[in-house]
Amino acid sequence: MTQFRKVQSRKNQEHMVELLNQHVTNLTDLFVQTKLAHWNVRGPHFIAYHELFDELAGHIPELIDTIAEQAAALGGVAGRPIQFIASETSLPAWPLEESRDLAVLAALTERWAIVANSVREAIVASADEDPETSDLFTEVSRKLDKDLWFLEAHLSQ
Ligand SMILES: [Fe+2]
Repeated sequence: MTQFRKVQSRKNQEHMVELLNQHVTNLTDLFVQTKLAHWNVRGPHFIAYHELFDELAGHIPELIDTIAEQAAALGGVAGRPIQFIASETSLPAWPLEESRDLAVLAALTERWAIVANSVREAIVASADEDPETSDLFTEVSRKLDKDLWFLEAHLSQ
């Protein structure tokens, strides 16, 4: 028999699954937006940014997988269809009209910061209800913050 991890009540479990899936949504959008930045960036910093953005995008699928599998482990439906992601993401749409390297970097940094902040809030929001989910968000937060630091380091004068 499958044993699901215990949380305090069924309501909390649904809340945790919802919180986890919101981050599957945000990170899926962030992955696509980071690839859009990788493909469309132009300017004097082209090669540095083109390569950096691809490296950062490459870190995201593992984070999505970890979060989605926690939703499954809690007995929920893991992940959401792309139509849901499009309507429920916390990120603004990617500015397709923008290709100048510094502007693309700034837009991408802003979006990574939104996701990193949202994950930090999720650490707190899950701490009482399910410490294991909270730990998982802490792990994701550490990885996102490191990459956010890389982006911000390129923005500083
Ligand atoms: Fe590529």
